[in-house]
Amino acid sequence: MILPIYLGGQPVLRQEGTEVTRETFGSEEELKTLVTNMFETLRQADGVGLAAPQIGLSLRLLVIDATEMVSEHPECEGFRRVMINPIIVEQSREGITLEEGCLSFPGIREKVKRAAKIRVTYLDEHFKEHSEEVHDFSARIVQHECDHLNGHIFLDHVAAIRRQLNQGKLLSLRKGTARCTYKVQPPTRQKK
Ligand code: NI
Repeated sequence: MILPIYLGGQPVLRQEGTEVTRETFGSEEELKTLVTNMFETLRQADGVGLAAPQIGLSLRLLVIDATEMVSEHPECEGFRRVMINPIIVEQSREGITLEEGCLSFPGIREKVKRAAKIRVTYLDEHFKEHSEEVHDFSARIVQHECDHLNGHIFLDHVAAIRRQLNQGKLLSLRKGTARCTYKVQPPTRQKK
């Protein structure tokens, strides 16, 4: 099932996600369905990563599917992951600056500096522990998605002047008038 993606201005995007345990879900089946739906939502939106807050769930859970980026970014080969409670435990001092976007902010792209190499620990969808070193574009995706779990967005890394330049686009996201090719959930309009 394709889920609507919550757009900039939705308060859930600014909340710190809650740690996930087996008890978070009514059953293993419930988690499995959520993960399947998140991958489906990600694919139809043509994205590479989706964090639970982006579908309105304030949980520390994210999915990544960067396998189609392999021709541009060889390190993305087979890079399809479910990460529960991920923590970036190490990061290189070396950084890479590259243009980035976010499914919650369609139409906005900005250059963001990210660590070139990181180590991330997480649980997979079977609650098995992993510790993985990722680099370059894969590392960028993990850092971007982990930010979402802490209530941060990519524009937080951008200079104020650049954010200013995007005010018009941000406003149209809030108003629900932004053009978008996938199913979205703009912020609820405040009743006066
Ligand atoms: Ni994002």
